[in-house]
Amino acid sequence: MSIRRVVVEDYGILKDLAVNVLEPLYGDQSKSLREWFTGDGYKHAFVLDSEHGIAGFLSLKINPNKPYLKISTLFVFDGHKRLGCGKKLLAKAVRVAKDLGYHRLVVTVSDKKPEAMDFFLHSGFSIIDKKPGKYRPDSTEFILDMAIF
Ligand SMILES: CC(C)(COP(=O)(O)OP(=O)(O)OC[C@H]1O[C@@H](n2cnc3c(N)ncnc32)[C@H](O)[C@@H]1OP(=O)(O)O)[C@@H](O)C(=O)NCCC(=O)NCCS
Repeated sequence: MSIRRVVVEDYGILKDLAVNVLEPLYGDQSKSLREWFTGDGYKHAFVLDSEHGIAGFLSLKINPNKPYLKISTLFVFDGHKRLGCGKKLLAKAVRVAKDLGYHRLVVTVSDKKPEAMDFFLHSGFSIIDKKPGKYRPDSTEFILDMAIF
């Protein structure tokens, strides 16, 4: 398995992810989808390749005005879960953070995604804040962070 930048051939699978998984949680994803492929804005997108196709996706938001690196999306596709893919993607985020000199990684997780919450808490993140109704009136976003050494 290896992690690489997204390329135009990934568009179909990542559009599915944006429309079917992310949009119901966070609303319109067309700007993110464009940024993943053009590199405009602050988003930097990666995929995890496996011998059975794309296993996971990572989008990092590198905003020089913020004192932390943000994980915008960390997602492992069905059929690839619990095989260490999430861990590999998170390790990539930590590497990028270290290379850029950040000391904090931040991620927001919806209360509608207990699987992701359990993964990040298990991986060393702590909840530092919560924002009820941030993206949808019926859900709460938790803000998690982890120190990088
Ligand atoms: C959460 C997610 C990233 C985990 O990825 P994964 O590849 O299954 O996780 P890994 O196999 O790398 O597991 C890494 C560690 O986390 C633990 N872990 C993974 N999922 C877990 C869960 N649901 N609960 C508790 N621990 C979990 C593993 O046991 C493993 O622990 P270890 O290092 O002590 O052995 C993946 O399930 C996912 O993408 N789910 C969908 C989330 C989603 O819908 N997000 C939408 C908004 S972005």
